[in-house]
Amino acid sequence: MSRTLEPSGGTRTAARAGGDTDQFPVIFERSRPGRRAWSLPDAAVDAPALDDLIPAQHRRTTAPALPEVSELDLVRHYTRLSQRNWAIDVGPYPLGSCSMKYNPKIAEQAANLPGFASLHPFAGDELVQGALELLGILERSLCEATGMARLTFQPAAGAQGELTGLLMMRAFHESRGDKRTKVIIPDSAHGTNPASVSLAGYRAEEVRSDERGLVDVDALKQALDQETAGLMLTNPNTLGLFERDIKEIAAAVHEVGGLLYYDGANFNSIVGVVRPGDMGFDIVHMNLHKTFATPHGGGGPGSGPLAVSERLERFLPAPVLAPPAYEGDRWRWDHDRPDSIGRIHSFHGNFGINVRAYAYLRSLGPEGLRLVAERAVLNANYLKALIEEAFPTAYPGDCMHEFVSTAKSLRKKGVKAMDVAKRLIDLGYHPPTVYFPLVVDEALMVEPTETESKETIDGLAAALNQIAAEADTDPELVKAAPTSTPVRRPDEAKAARELRLRWSPE
Ligand SMILES: Cc1ncc(COP(=O)(O)O)c(C=O)c1O
Repeated sequence: MSRTLEPSGGTRTAARAGGDTDQFPVIFERSRPGRRAWSLPDAAVDAPALDDLIPAQHRRTTAPALPEVSELDLVRHYTRLSQRNWAIDVGPYPLGSCSMKYNPKIAEQAANLPGFASLHPFAGDELVQGALELLGILERSLCEATGMARLTFQPAAGAQGELTGLLMMRAFHESRGDKRTKVIIPDSAHGTNPASVSLAGYRAEEVRSDERGLVDVDALKQALDQETAGLMLTNPNTLGLFERDIKEIAAAVHEVGGLLYYDGANFNSIVGVVRPGDMGFDIVHMNLHKTFATPHGGGGPGSGPLAVSERLERFLPAPVLAPPAYEGDRWRWDHDRPDSIGRIHSFHGNFGINVRAYAYLRSLGPEGLRLVAERAVLNANYLKALIEEAFPTAYPGDCMHEFVSTAKSLRKKGVKAMDVAKRLIDLGYHPPTVYFPLVVDEALMVEPTETESKETIDGLAAALNQIAAEADTDPELVKAAPTSTPVRRPDEAKAARELRLRWSPE
């Protein structure tokens, strides 16, 4: 008998199937010569001969060392593995800054339609008119939602969108014979921001947050000068707080000739309510894998389209999509872009994520999108209020889609934010983000997302409050958690540094 996790909250006891112990063999260890599983070929027609597809001299001469297993072994192995995984389809995933929200199955079905899923990347424009039209409509919708003029779908993640935007910022200044050296970033920024700034050849200069958790406008004004290529900001910021002084900030940056970059990873908190373009931003990336369906994390794939205002349009990565110019004309890719910064991704980014985003947008409509933002903010504030006593937020006031609490009051009993996260696993919840942003001591960064119900949020709050009480009465219980998982506390630094993804026999 062993304890396994229930979808959202609580634990249950279940009998394990024969042979399923905590440590079970990898699929290669199950291999026995000659065992096979079968599936029918995809097509009803005969496949071409292998010789016609791959000439003999390009083929391997020895068979690959693939596991040889029966269908039953195969099914059980992967079913067990899937049960070891936490997933958004199993329970909530309140990872602040990572928006693990539910991906409606209709978006998944749309992306799996054979006409989309089987598209060949080298198919000519005339053969993929439907796909191009989908991208065209999605581009218009996202430009409308952000208040921007044009957009590229090439970036495959938020971080790649950042790099693309910063390279365009650079191209913009250089086209005016203006060589600038630095980009300003608030101290609460996501780690990818300074990394992208360095990759783009700029120096990242940090500006501090004030006692409200917002950009200190006076400090910013002091940092702004003729060397400033731009300011990179996410609004709401990573503390989940809306930068109220954004108009003043934008005016100050523009006054020194700088550009405003909007890290739109937190767009789900304002979509349909306020537009980055109207706040004064010139460049915006969105994480479609956060705001528009697809859950974030798990190594991708993602989509971080980058939208820009008119004055930056000519620098967009080539090619850009050209809509039909007259009745009977067709969609096509325009490669004739002399000022483009060039390609930053093969083909047109991760097309499947864009199809999911399209389905999500079309199923919600403008009113539905506004509701997304309103519910994201409501859910976060509701949860914040429920746990405030045990885990107060570091900064005052209402939050947007996420909030950052501190677990530092538990320190007197030797309990840390990491222990709270681990204990939450025993209670059937995925932990929130911990120790980020760095400006908050013992940070717990929580984002319930707009897709969770009141009951689920109540359950999560009850679990967190229970842990706070346990930390007081039985701190060892919290420090020893998790006790319900096959692996309890892995050495995280070792796991990251000595990653072994490939099994080989001893
Ligand atoms: C505020 C913020 N900016 C940028 C990123 C980077 O996005 P990605 O992980 O897709 O590269 C994230 C990711 O979660 C984020 O939360």
